[in-house]
Amino acid sequence: MKHIVLIGMMGCGKSTCGALLSQQLGIGLMDTDTYIETREGRSITEIFAQEGEPYFRMLEKAVGQEVGQMSPMVIACGGGFPLQTEAITPLKGVSHVVFLYRDPVEIYQNVAMSGRPLGQETQEAFLSRYQQREPIYRKWADQVVNVGVNPQETVDRILEVLP
Ligand code: S3P
Repeated sequence: MKHIVLIGMMGCGKSTCGALLSQQLGIGLMDTDTYIETREGRSITEIFAQEGEPYFRMLEKAVGQEVGQMSPMVIACGGGFPLQTEAITPLKGVSHVVFLYRDPVEIYQNVAMSGRPLGQETQEAFLSRYQQREPIYRKWADQVVNVGVNPQETVDRILEVLP
């Protein structure tokens, strides 16, 4: 069995769906943001404010290298995780990577961005960030799943596309 790795834009539902999926499959869950927060003893917001984004990205790379060697689980990645080849490469091959697609306008208008340092931007900037990222999400994905009307529907769709 391989890891199931969820990637996609902040606010698309990776953490919520990842938690449900891990419960339903009876395997472990790694939320890369939570893992980093626990290890650092501070929030993502604090890490960005106190150390800057490059430090956070370095932590993500280290997580990718560690997780690649762990036993199979569901891994909910931070939205920027697959942007760094060094973070995502150790997971490719040992994982089934699923890009959760949710319309970025819908995300921006409906999802709370508190606790997301890069979500504190205008809708135009958010959409531009999404447009830069989407090809990268698609490049790493083994499957693309459109989010459903609720997390369970999304999880059901993920389960349908898993080999
Ligand atoms: C980020 C997304 C966040 C978190 C950090 C940076 C990004 O995770 O890793 O704030 O670059 O998109 P979520 O996708 O869970 O919001």
